[in-house]
Amino acid sequence: MTMDFDKLQQTLSAAIATSRLRDAESLSDKQSKLPLSDAFFCGEDTLKNKRFYEALMHAIKDIQARFPNEKIRVVDAGSGTGVLGALALIAWADYVSFIEANPYTLSWSQKFIEKLWLSDRSEFYCEDATEIVLPEKYHLLISETITIDFTREDFHNIINHLKQFILPEAIIIPEAFDINFTQKMQDNTIVQHETISRNSLWHLGQHIELIQDETQILEISGEAQIYGNTYISSGETMSFFNTMSYSRDDISDIFVWAK
Ligand SMILES: C[S@@+](CC[C@H](N)C(=O)[O-])C[C@H]1O[C@@H](n2cnc3c(N)ncnc32)[C@H](O)[C@@H]1O
Repeated sequence: MTMDFDKLQQTLSAAIATSRLRDAESLSDKQSKLPLSDAFFCGEDTLKNKRFYEALMHAIKDIQARFPNEKIRVVDAGSGTGVLGALALIAWADYVSFIEANPYTLSWSQKFIEKLWLSDRSEFYCEDATEIVLPEKYHLLISETITIDFTREDFHNIINHLKQFILPEAIIIPEAFDINFTQKMQDNTIVQHETISRNSLWHLGQHIELIQDETQILEISGEAQIYGNTYISSGETMSFFNTMSYSRDDISDIFVWAK
């Protein structure tokens, strides 16, 4: 069977539509940090998947030029349904290692990859991507484990940990972020705080200083550079990098109040 983006997405959506965990599994799945339903939600985000596919095709071409005659190995960390790793395989990567911490999600993705006839080019690790030890080095690292405030998912810890398992000149997807922090003050003025510039990743432990005010709302929005000319802005897709708003009482620990 020849597989293109549309066929892969249709197969994924059909498989999601007919999936149901047994009651006991469902209870146990709900205890995990990100249940299978979250992976399904991201898997159903066709526009996000399409942009990642464009980025992957471009990145894999660049890797082929950088590493001529090498078999291209990809690691998909926080692989969910397996959609991004599968897209890398149809974009001519040779091999993908899928890493997923939720056992129900990993087992679901294994069956999905079988359905696509891609199992012989895949391996699966049910492990925490911030701790796993991998036996080889990779040409491409993908991780779609991001919320826009970078505090609710493991993206940075994953990238920082897995960097030791990628080759020099390997590509990381997504590659960069632009993030805007907006504080809406009591008198309706708006204060723009900081833009984290392109090509610099958010550093854990870094703080944005807010102006003291009684009723402000803080909003974060931005743009992710997936790879090359492929970007996703807040609000464009269903699941990825969307705007977050905080009220004064619900402020994330990346913000501190000015004294
Ligand atoms: C937002 S979903 C995205 C799934 C998929 N990459 C996609 O684009 O549709 C993130 C997935 O990463 C997994 N995950 C999050 N942190 C992880 C970690 N530290 N190690 C392994 N898997 C992780 C979650 O269980 C979840 O299935």
